[in-house]
Amino acid sequence: MKNRHFVTLLDYEQEEIQELLNLSKRLKKLKRKGERHAFLQGRNVALLFQKDSTRTRCAFEVAAYDLGMGATYLGPSGSQMGKKESIKDTARVLGRMYDGIQFRGHRHEDVEGLAEHAGVPVWNGLTDRFHPTQVLADFLTIEETFGSLKGRTLAYVGDARNNMGNSLMVGAARMGMHFRSVAPRTLWPEDDLIKQARQLAESSGGSVELHEDKWQGTRDADVIYTDVWVSMGEPEEVWRERISALSEYQVDSELMANASSDAIFMHCLPSFHGKDTDVGAQIASLFGEEYPRVKDGEMEVTDAVIESPCSKVFEEAENRLHTIKAVMLATMSDKRIEDE
Ligand code: CP
Ligand code: NVA
Repeated sequence: MKNRHFVTLLDYEQEEIQELLNLSKRLKKLKRKGERHAFLQGRNVALLFQKDSTRTRCAFEVAAYDLGMGATYLGPSGSQMGKKESIKDTARVLGRMYDGIQFRGHRHEDVEGLAEHAGVPVWNGLTDRFHPTQVLADFLTIEETFGSLKGRTLAYVGDARNNMGNSLMVGAARMGMHFRSVAPRTLWPEDDLIKQARQLAESSGGSVELHEDKWQGTRDADVIYTDVWVSMGEPEEVWRERISALSEYQVDSELMANASSDAIFMHCLPSFHGKDTDVGAQIASLFGEEYPRVKDGEMEVTDAVIESPCSKVFEEAENRLHTIKAVMLATMSDKRIEDE
């Protein structure tokens, strides 16, 4: 995978994704044992963020340091990119100084443009369309829980056409999983992407289904996954329509009980499950009376579910580090790490 970009899972074969997951497990072991693994000593990476981040930024930075690299963070303000300098020029400048570039931003075309012109590996840390490094962490977590991905059913409940809905659909189809989008029809993924995912599922032995009925869509699923109803970059005005469309799709204990008896709950985070965030408190006061489900600031998931033993959200968050480290190592070198 040396010198490859990591922009969408559509570009990676099933065996390659599995290889990245296996490498992540080995790197996780080294980290846990406190063994030095500075395999990319002396290299440098640029981390470009047009949107906020906790997990992705920290995972890239810590992974870079653990691998012996230097890292430069460029935030939503403070660089020339996009305002006075095109993506193409930015790519050619940074490509001459750095050995790899992470991009988080709005337009998916921008990460593709960087990849086209940088001359070094470019990693997608989230665009409006896809969030592939998150899916690797999610798959590692599912493997750690159930032993394997193939044949497992993942029901994604909520805004099924956002970056997480799209990426999980494509990734699950690639890995031979049974994927279900559970959402009102207006929030289903684009037809073309569904078609592509179904083609992948056909060759992997998986399947892709779309459900408006949340009971049918979550029945006996192994994984119930959800994400925020309004994503970064969307205007505040969409909150009302999104709450109206999705409040009945809130993941609560009753919905979890409809899944398999050993089902797990997953969420990429950050998540609204109480009034202890500015947005949670604001939504509760603005919409709580009209939509009782959000009156305590709980939106896509209830506090009881996210705090329950079946919730794997913090395992997923930790796995961002190990999987992002694997992506950088695999695309920047041909170093192989064997299991002892
Ligand atoms: N899940 C995720 O990408 O989180 P951040 O926005 O904190 O990076
Ligand atoms: N769909 C969310 C994912 C955050 C990790 C967003 O884009 O804001």
